[in-house]
Amino acid sequence: MIPENAGPAAVIVLAAGAGTRMKSRTPKILHEIGGLSMVGHALRAARSINPQRLAIVVRHERDLVAGHVAALDPEAVIVDQDDVPGTGRAVEAALEALHAEKDLAGTVVVTYGDVPLLSGDLLTELVATHERDGNAVTVLTAILDDATGYGRILRGEDGSVTGIREHKDSSEAERLIREVNSGIYAFDAAVLRDALGKVTTDNAQGEKYLTDVLFLARAAGGRVAAVVTADRWQVEGANDRVQLAALGAELNRRTVEAWMRAGVTVVDPATTWIDASVTLDEDVRLLPNTQLHGATTVARDAVVGPDTTLTDVTVGEAATVVRTHGSGAVIGAHAGVGPFTYLRPGTVLGEQGKIGAFYETKNVTIGRGSKLSHLGYAGDAEIGEDTNIGCGNITANYDGEKKHRTIIGSGVRTGSNTVFVAPVTVGDGAYSGAGAVIRKDVPAGALAVSVAAQRNAEGWVPANRPGTRSAELAQAATPKSSSTPASTEEGK
Ligand code: UD1
Ligand code: MG
Repeated sequence: MIPENAGPAAVIVLAAGAGTRMKSRTPKILHEIGGLSMVGHALRAARSINPQRLAIVVRHERDLVAGHVAALDPEAVIVDQDDVPGTGRAVEAALEALHAEKDLAGTVVVTYGDVPLLSGDLLTELVATHERDGNAVTVLTAILDDATGYGRILRGEDGSVTGIREHKDSSEAERLIREVNSGIYAFDAAVLRDALGKVTTDNAQGEKYLTDVLFLARAAGGRVAAVVTADRWQVEGANDRVQLAALGAELNRRTVEAWMRAGVTVVDPATTWIDASVTLDEDVRLLPNTQLHGATTVARDAVVGPDTTLTDVTVGEAATVVRTHGSGAVIGAHAGVGPFTYLRPGTVLGEQGKIGAFYETKNVTIGRGSKLSHLGYAGDAEIGEDTNIGCGNITANYDGEKKHRTIIGSGVRTGSNTVFVAPVTVGDGAYSGAGAVIRKDVPAGALAVSVAAQRNAEGWVPANRPGTRSAELAQAATPKSSSTPASTEEGK
C-alpha cells in the first residue's frame, strides 16, 4: 500500500558524468558547498518530495561516489551506467534497475547530482503541475542571458513546448533562444520507458539524449509542457571551481537570509558562513567573520563572534563566544569563551563557566560556574563546580606514551602556573600555591605547595653585572648604610 501523502514513484539522480573541468582527484559531485557535497544537496532535495524510490546513476569514480551516497542515503538504489553515453541511457539504466524490483507507474522525476541549489519546493511545484495537467513530460526551464551550451526549449506557434534541441545540434536561429533546459523533469513512467526504447545516438555527440523523449512523447500524442523558474540559481550546475564558489556563496546568502528572517541578528552577512545543517534560535547574534559548521546549534540570546569558527559545537542560551576556534564542544548557558580560545573535541563547559583568553581545552568537563580565565591547557580532565583555575595552569596529561586524567573538585582555587601531573586528583575546596607542580593527590581543603622557598642573593647584580643599567639603578636604589657585601655564592 502506498501512503496517501507519498510523492512521485521515483526520483532518478544523474551522476555518471566525469566533471573534468573541476581538475580534481575528488569526483566533482563530492565537492562541497554549505558543508555538504553537491550530491548530498541533490539527495536532500530528492528525498524532500518523498519519492517511493530513489535511484542514482553512477559511472565515473564509481566506488567513491557509490560509497559516499550509501553513507548519506542508505536507501538510495545505486545504478551503474554502461558504455553507452548520454543522459537518456543513464535514465534507461535506472528504469531497468527500478523495474527489476517492482514495476514503476506514475511520475518519475529526473534531477542532476551537480545542481546543488535545487529546492524541494521547486521540485514539488514541478510534480504538482505535471500531475494536475496530466502531462506526459514536464520540463523545468529558465530564461538565461547567455544560453550557450544548454539545450534550447523549442515552442510552437501557440507557445506549447515541442521539444529540446541540444546546443551542438542547433541551427543559428535556435541558438538565439534563451529559454534553456535545466535537465530536471517530471515524466510519466510509461511514456518515459516507451520513448527511451526509441531514442538513438544519431546526433552531434553520439549520445542517447534524454531530451529526445520530449519529441517522442509529443509524437505519441502526449502533452509536453514546461515550468519556467525565475530563480536561475536553482537550476545551475557547478562544472568548475569558479562556479562552485559562486553557488556556495549564493547558498550561504540564502541560508543567512533565512536565519535573519527567523529572528537571528547577523551583523555582517557577507562574512558570516552557515552550513545548511546548523540550527539557530531566535535572538541569537552573530558578529562579523563567524563560520558555523556541521551540527552546530546556538541557543537563544547567545552571541557568537567576531572571528569565530565552530564545528559541531552546542552553544547554550545567552553564552558568549568571542574569537574562538572550536569543534565537538558544548558551551553551557550564560558561559563565556574567548577571546583567542581553542576548544577541541570533548570540551564541556558548564553553565556560567568561563574559558578565557589563550586557553586550549580537550576532553574536559568543567562544572557550573568554574573559571579557567587565562593562558593554559586543560585536557583529559574533570573540574567540579565554582572552581577557579589560576592563570597559566596546565594539565600535563601525556607521559610520552599514554594520556592520563586530572580530577579537580569543586570550590578549588589554584595558584598561577600550577601544573597538574596526571594522573592526579585534587579534592574539593583545596588550594595550590603559585608555581606548584602537583604530582601527588591533594586532599580536600589542603594547600598544596611544591616550590622551594625563595632566596635573595643580595647585591648579586652590581657584583656580577657591573657597569650595566640594572647595576646602576640597583646601586642608586640601595641605601649606602644598609648595603651588604656582594655575593655570588649559591646556598644560604
Ligand atoms: C544536458 C541536457 C541539456 C541541458 C543541460 C543542463 C541532454 C542531452 N542534454 O546537457 O539539454 O540544457 O544538461 O545542464 O540531456 N550524465 C549521466 N550519464 C551520461 C551523461 C550525463 O549520468 O552518460 C549526467 C551528468 O553526470 C550530469 C547530467 O547527467 O549530472 C548532465 O550531463 P551533462 O553532460 O552535463 O549534459 P549536458 O551536455 O550539459
Ligand atoms: Mg552540463
